[in-house]
Amino acid sequence: MKTNWTTRDIPSQQGRRVLITGANSGIGFHTALELARQGAEIILPARSLAKSEDAIARIRAEVPNAKLIAETLDLADLSSVHAFAARIVLRFPGQSLDLLINNAGVMAIPQREITPDGYERQFATNYLGPFALTALLYNSIRQQLGSRIVIVSSTASKFGKIDFSNLQSERRYSPMWQCYAQSKLADSIFALELQRRLTAINSPIITTAAHPGYAITNLQTSGPGEGSFMMNLMSMVLKPILSHDALHGALPTLYAAVDPNAQPSGYYGPNGFQELKGNPAPAKIAPAAQDPIVAAKLWAVSEQLTGVPFNIHA
Ligand SMILES: NC(=O)c1ccc[n+]([C@@H]2O[C@H](COP(=O)([O-])OP(=O)(O)OC[C@H]3O[C@@H](n4cnc5c(N)ncnc54)[C@H](OP(=O)(O)O)[C@@H]3O)[C@@H](O)[C@H]2O)c1
Repeated sequence: MKTNWTTRDIPSQQGRRVLITGANSGIGFHTALELARQGAEIILPARSLAKSEDAIARIRAEVPNAKLIAETLDLADLSSVHAFAARIVLRFPGQSLDLLINNAGVMAIPQREITPDGYERQFATNYLGPFALTALLYNSIRQQLGSRIVIVSSTASKFGKIDFSNLQSERRYSPMWQCYAQSKLADSIFALELQRRLTAINSPIITTAAHPGYAITNLQTSGPGEGSFMMNLMSMVLKPILSHDALHGALPTLYAAVDPNAQPSGYYGPNGFQELKGNPAPAKIAPAAQDPIVAAKLWAVSEQLTGVPFNIHA
C-alpha cells in the first residue's frame, strides 16, 4: 500500500450508505466527516439524539449538503441495540448498508461497572454490543463487492487475554491492561472469525480492522478513565511525543473502510514507533487473536451472552 495514504485517497462514496457507531466524537467523528465529504449517506447513532444531532450540525458546518441521519444507540444495553437495529431494518428494508463501522468504545473505567444486562461495561460496550449489532444488521449489508464490516481495535489488544472464567472481570478487575485489553482482543478475534465465516460461504462482504494508535480524543481527556494513574502517565509522558490528532487516528479506519486495496482480515494502524502515530499501514495482529479454536468458542459464548444467534449465510 502507498506509504502516505491520506483523506485525498478516499474514493467517491456517492450512493453508499454507511453506519458508524461513536461518530459524535473523536475518531468516529472524523471518519464520518471524511466519508460525508465524499458523498456517503451516514447513519450516526449516539447515546442521545442531542449528541447525534450535534455531530450532524458539526459535519454540516463543513459539508452543507451532507446526507446524515440522527439516531440513538447504547451499545452497553442490549435492549437499545435491538431497538436501534429494528428501526434501521424498518426504515431501510432489505440489503441497504454498504459499510458498518464498529468504532464506539470506552476505555479504562476506574471501577468495575455493570450494564443493565449484568455485564461488565467495557466488555459490553466494546465487544458484546458490537457483536450483537453486527449480527442483527448482517442481513442489511449488501451482498456485493465493496461491502465491508470494519472493527476498531487497539494496540492494547496485544496485552489482552481471553479468560473465559473472567470474561466479565468478576474475579479480577484491572481497568486497562486486563479489562480494556481483553475487550479489544475480543474485537480483533471477532474481526478474524467473521472473515473466516464470510470466506467459507464465498461472501463478497469483507471484514477489516483498524486501530488509531494513540490519538487525542475524549477517550483520554473526558472519558471515564480520566484522573486514573494510567491516564495521567499517558498524558504526561507519552502524549507530547507519541500521539497524533483524531483525524490522523481516523486514517487507518478510513483505509480499512474504503480503500480498494484493503484486504479481507486486513488490520491497519499507524506506521510510526510502536504503531502509536504515523501514516496508515498494515498493523501487527496480536498473536492471541489468531487462534481459531478460541475464536469459535468466543463466538458461541457471545451468542449465548447476547441471546443473538449469528449465522453467516449468503
Ligand atoms: N484514541 C485512541 O488513542 C485509541 C486507541 C486505541 C483504540 N481506540 C478505539 O477507538 C475507538 C474510538 O475511540 P475514540 O478515541 O474516538 O474515543 P471517544 O472520542 O471517546 O469516542 C468514543 C465514542 O464511543 C461512544 N460510546 C461510548 N460508550 C458507548 C455506548 N455505550 N454506546 C454507544 N456509543 C458509545 C462515545 O459516545 P459518548 O460521546 O456518548 O461518550 C463516543 O462517541 C474506540 O473503540 C477506542 O477503543 C482509541
